[in-house]
Amino acid sequence: MVAVIIVTGAAVRLTGSGLGCSSWPNCSPGQLTPRDATSYHAMIEFINRTFTGAVSIAVIAAVLGSFFRSPRRRDLIWLSLGLVGGVIAQIVLGGITVLTDLHPAAVMSHFLLSMLLLADAVILVERAGYPDDRRSYKPELKWERRLPLLQFIFVSVVVVAGTVATNSGPHAGDRSARRFNIVLTDIVRIHSIAAIILLITLAGILFLSSKTGVSSRRRRDRTLLLSAVVIQMTIGYVQYFTGVPALLVSLHIVGAVLVFIASLRFLIRTNRQMPMIAMSAENRVQGNEFVSNFRGTGSVL
Ligand code: HEM
Repeated sequence: MVAVIIVTGAAVRLTGSGLGCSSWPNCSPGQLTPRDATSYHAMIEFINRTFTGAVSIAVIAAVLGSFFRSPRRRDLIWLSLGLVGGVIAQIVLGGITVLTDLHPAAVMSHFLLSMLLLADAVILVERAGYPDDRRSYKPELKWERRLPLLQFIFVSVVVVAGTVATNSGPHAGDRSARRFNIVLTDIVRIHSIAAIILLITLAGILFLSSKTGVSSRRRRDRTLLLSAVVIQMTIGYVQYFTGVPALLVSLHIVGAVLVFIASLRFLIRTNRQMPMIAMSAENRVQGNEFVSNFRGTGSVL
């Protein structure tokens, strides 16, 4: 749901409908819905606002699920409440975006906050799959364990630079919307160089994986992430050299969401704490053996 609303939000921008509804929370002063169905931009902006309702229902379901599940887990409760905070902040920020006539900082923050919400949702889903009745052992942070974090940081840098590029270019939400005072070529150069560094990091991780013997499932996940980045970069270059047509830009946004999810899942799964049976006095010795064996296996890449 969160991933979908990021894409529908982008559709608002790409069709130039950011100011389709001139007011907030009403579409126009004194009227909640668009005045007539022929008002194309107002309808697109209104549908996007309505979709926020669907996301809110999904978030309420997540909160109820985390409160009523047995056993209740604090991490899941906090993560679901984080979604509530994110949706409320997003509604307020959406209002600020309209009321400031699509100030580029507001448009950019609106997109980035969606990515934070998406991150919260991905972590919630991943952690919900952790066993309840086990303690966990946090693996030592060796240098190679930091690589997954590094690739996620690079993905985040690429995403932030991408939003600056969008808000300096033709797709900032409306023809009349203000833009950052940055030359598009310069910011796209920074954006694409960061993507190249990300690509090299991922290729390095995959190379190390082949040396250190990880499970085929993990290697497949990494190959998929690397392939998604290659496809995303190809779309990026093609859209840039063809004058950023709206269709390719929308594909680039779908790609950005998929790369972000894959990168975060890679980070979470690599650093996932190894489950260990809660240690009683009798099985502590066994547990310590487990820890030293695990340490001994070395690489998680
Ligand atoms: C992993 C690789 C990449 C990711 C995750 C990524 C992500 C993004 C994101 C999130 C945006 C902003 C979308 C928005 O605010 O609506 C963006 C915009 C953009 N990206 Fe990328 N990007 C990648 C690679 C590239 C590459 C290699 C190029 C090549 C030049 C490129 C060109 C662009 C351009 C021109 C824009 C502005 C499009 C517009 O006018 O809206 N991207 N990218």
